[in-house]
Amino acid sequence: MTNISWTDADRFDKKASEWDANALRAALADAVSRAIIAHLPVGQPQNSLEFGCGTGLVTIRVAEHCAQVTAADSSREMLNVLNEKIDAGAIRNIKPTFIDLSAPESVDELGESFDFVFSSMTLHHIPDTARFLRQLYAHMAPGATISIADLDQEDGFFHDDEAEKVHHGFDRNSLKEILETTGFINAAFMTAHIIEKKNREGRTGSYPVFLLTAVKPMS
Ligand SMILES: C[S@@+](CC[C@H](N)C(=O)[O-])C[C@H]1O[C@@H](n2cnc3c(N)ncnc32)[C@H](O)[C@@H]1O
Repeated sequence: MTNISWTDADRFDKKASEWDANALRAALADAVSRAIIAHLPVGQPQNSLEFGCGTGLVTIRVAEHCAQVTAADSSREMLNVLNEKIDAGAIRNIKPTFIDLSAPESVDELGESFDFVFSSMTLHHIPDTARFLRQLYAHMAPGATISIADLDQEDGFFHDDEAEKVHHGFDRNSLKEILETTGFINAAFMTAHIIEKKNREGRTGSYPVFLLTAVKPMS
């Protein structure tokens, strides 16, 4: 890995206008949205947060089941695409929010107590997983649910650019341990999707994507 920053917003800025045209991404977002919706908490979430919303492929689907969603991302161009969709669809319950979450304290800027937190394919872009999850936990209401989709531990060749600073997926047991140490309960995993793609080495690989759900206890 080179010394470039973990928050490579430029990379996502450049991809934003064509993000949705990629069929693999669309299939992934569809599967993840369905998995998140199937595992929604009982009762409509009133104050939700999505971190790493991108162009809103998952956001818009999940927001149909939520009262209000803060959609956070560090790429202004990804957020611009989401804003265009919001305008075109006259969507009123999504609040696109620019924020760089690579410093976990930045979660404080969101300054709210969320009753539902969700995300797709973004946790591997956040440098310190444990610190970030602790910050999220602090900004969740008692009884709140977290629902995170991301890559299972991969071979290190998933991302096209070797210089991109990312976690190479997550080992489910290690991630569960981090959540439990943070205070979450009822951590459970399911496989939401399997990405079949030609990796950086030119080999077609199978990359499973989990959905992790957990709950912040009531007390
Ligand atoms: C792989 S994309 C996934 C986008 C979207 N969830 C989807 O499924 O299409 C990762 C997203 O996380 C955002 N991201 C990466 N690092 C971030 C950070 N430090 N803070 C906030 N967002 C970040 C990127 O800008 C990008 O939109």
